[in-house]
Amino acid sequence: MRDKVVVKWGGGLITEKNQLCTVDRDIIRSLVGTIITCHGNDLDVILVHGAGSFGHLRAKQWRLNEGKIDPSNFIADDFCSTQEQAVKLVRKDMLTLNSIIMEELTRADISAAVLSPHKWVNGTGESFQGDLTFFAGAPEGIVMVTYGDVVDCDEPLQFGILSGDDLVTRLAIEVPNVKRLVFAIGGVDGILRCPPDRASEDDLIEIWSPDIEFEGEHKSDIDVTGGIGLKAARGAKVAQNGIEVMMVSGQHPQRVADACIGVATRGTKVVYNVK
Ligand code: IPE
Repeated sequence: MRDKVVVKWGGGLITEKNQLCTVDRDIIRSLVGTIITCHGNDLDVILVHGAGSFGHLRAKQWRLNEGKIDPSNFIADDFCSTQEQAVKLVRKDMLTLNSIIMEELTRADISAAVLSPHKWVNGTGESFQGDLTFFAGAPEGIVMVTYGDVVDCDEPLQFGILSGDDLVTRLAIEVPNVKRLVFAIGGVDGILRCPPDRASEDDLIEIWSPDIEFEGEHKSDIDVTGGIGLKAARGAKVAQNGIEVMMVSGQHPQRVADACIGVATRGTKVVYNVK
């Protein structure tokens, strides 16, 4: 069986995060090119993408990350009047974003299959329930795709938000032959010592382990999932299992490609413990 790489395309990278349901096709196309590089280097790819403006804005408005809550908390808008309708709408928007990615993969002659989390996952966080064997059993050269989604949860929650960061953690650790996990992120080169608006070139943390503090930016007014802090924590857990973990700027496709094939590049290598 060929080696595999698990790649997360951040939602903030592939969409305009503040503008409802707006995609950045040029970035997606350049990222698709990095998958071709992986295949050319005998690596299979498991692709997980985020939500960006196809998920966070409406999920935040309807507090879908909190599960089912008292309907009196909400005022109907032109699109939905209940949390249940919002669940359906966000799932539909995520299918739209995913279909754009699948379209770009097909355009590049890459065969891919998608497993939408709302069809196979129950629960949120890294201990979600769901069968990962389809990802393990994919034929050589077929890209298995999944993404952050609204998933069913047990009562009393009924539903919740599963982050792509939790999916990549489980996939990297549990699917056999995964050599690397690469986070392609938007707006930053990796983990910075201070928030991006104050950071200079030298503030990139090139090797990060959980004992290193950083002031990560998390736009909690927009995001319903964890931002860079969640990626860092999940990444360390994956690294603890002997898998290489890199965070790189997805605006530089060469860095994404290099990180995937194991060539040193600008970004943050996440380790469990600095020796
Ligand atoms: C969030 O998934 C899913 C929804 C809001 C529906 P992610 O946590 O993987 O998304 P990004 O990368 O932050 O956009």
